[in-house]
Amino acid sequence: MAYSKKVIDRFEQVTNNPAAHGVGKFDPKDPTVATGMTGAPACGDVMKLDLKLDPETDTIIDVKFKTYGCGSAIASSSMFVEMLTGLTIEEAKQIKDKEIAEALELPPIKIHCSVLAEDSIKRAIQDWEEKKAGRTTSWIDEMQKKDDKSMIGHNSNNVETYPENGM
Ligand code: FES
Repeated sequence: MAYSKKVIDRFEQVTNNPAAHGVGKFDPKDPTVATGMTGAPACGDVMKLDLKLDPETDTIIDVKFKTYGCGSAIASSSMFVEMLTGLTIEEAKQIKDKEIAEALELPPIKIHCSVLAEDSIKRAIQDWEEKKAGRTTSWIDEMQKKDDKSMIGHNSNNVETYPENGM
């Protein structure tokens, strides 16, 4: 299976300048930050997505991600970052992995890589809605405890990633 030129180009852009393509995280204690983290059962890869929001308008001001995964997952993550910035939460709910898969020309065997990104968005939206409702969730507490201690590393391309079985 060969990656499409679109996946390769985007992956290289991210690895050449991770910070410029949304790789990173926001302060998890910031009340205007929502986080979603998902693992792909098919391959064990993991994505964590941070949304920074304007609480008055529910608009996504900025997005950061960390992905331990293949080139398709990193390219998909970066594309979602671009698509999400400036959207409201309601608009973000309409984004589907299919749009990413088509834009990157992902083959059927790699569709789950874009699903990983869509699931992370759903989790981040859920986190935001629960935060707004004044609730917390056990999974986000767990994630914050693990974050920085054991989950973040760098792959050979210097992209921040999660180590194996990091979920
Ligand atoms: Fe696991 Fe792509 S092979 S996310």
